[in-house]
Amino acid sequence: MSATGEVKRPVPPDIRARKGGTPLVVLTAYTTPVARLVDPHCDIVLVGDSLGMVIHGLPSTLGVTMEMMILHSQAVARGLSRAMMVVDMPFGSYEEGPEQAFRNAARLMVETGAAAVKLEGGEHMEATIAFLTARGIPVMAHIGLTPQAVNTLGGYRVQGRGEDATRIRRDAEAVTRAGAFSVVLEKVPDALAREITQAIDIPTIGIGASADCDGQVLVVDDMLGLFTAFRPKFVKRYAELGQEADRAIAAYAAEVRARTFPAPEHVFGEKAPGK
Ligand code: KIV
Repeated sequence: MSATGEVKRPVPPDIRARKGGTPLVVLTAYTTPVARLVDPHCDIVLVGDSLGMVIHGLPSTLGVTMEMMILHSQAVARGLSRAMMVVDMPFGSYEEGPEQAFRNAARLMVETGAAAVKLEGGEHMEATIAFLTARGIPVMAHIGLTPQAVNTLGGYRVQGRGEDATRIRRDAEAVTRAGAFSVVLEKVPDALAREITQAIDIPTIGIGASADCDGQVLVVDDMLGLFTAFRPKFVKRYAELGQEADRAIAAYAAEVRARTFPAPEHVFGEKAPGK
């Protein structure tokens, strides 16, 4: 709360300070109405590049562009008044080097009002994350399964099993050193996620990781049962809105065909001009 009684929106240092505290609640949103729904309940709302698959029907996140991220982030920003907004940097917008990353991250922040950007990659992104954070761009890192690297990883497999755990540990240390204010750990073994959470001093945000992470993130359409193309093991469905929508749309179609919709209360008479 501020002195005026308004709820203070968190900024990246507030999120960083939540290490080891009450778990951070993070959900995605891609539109204004969904942003309004998640805003009262979340610390962070992520405009994830998952929007490529969830909203645009793309086969992966690789086809997502800066323009798509900006348009959806502007819509989400209009629906938020409490939660902090983080925007994903899309594939191809930051991997060339720190200068390219800065140019595009700055554009995302200026044109959308985001408080921070998220980018995928660990050790090999250390210099880029350090470059951005030194120049006023807070970075949420993303390691483990990094969906933009689906072609080099060979699919959406669990990362960091067995000897591969060393790679993920090194990634976590690198993004921490670089100044990231938090890190998403996606699809890594429970014990490894717990160990990394204890080892680094920035909040870990798990997705398919561990209940011992400093926070959790889910794709909102997954947890509401709206995105049904596939369902990763780490998704818990808190509602089945897809099924509910199907029932409602089928009822509408049947009523239109039977001429029972619109009913008398949905149509207009001659009286009350202008109505
Ligand atoms: O794009 C996205 O929605 C994400 C989250 C699943 C972490 O990166």
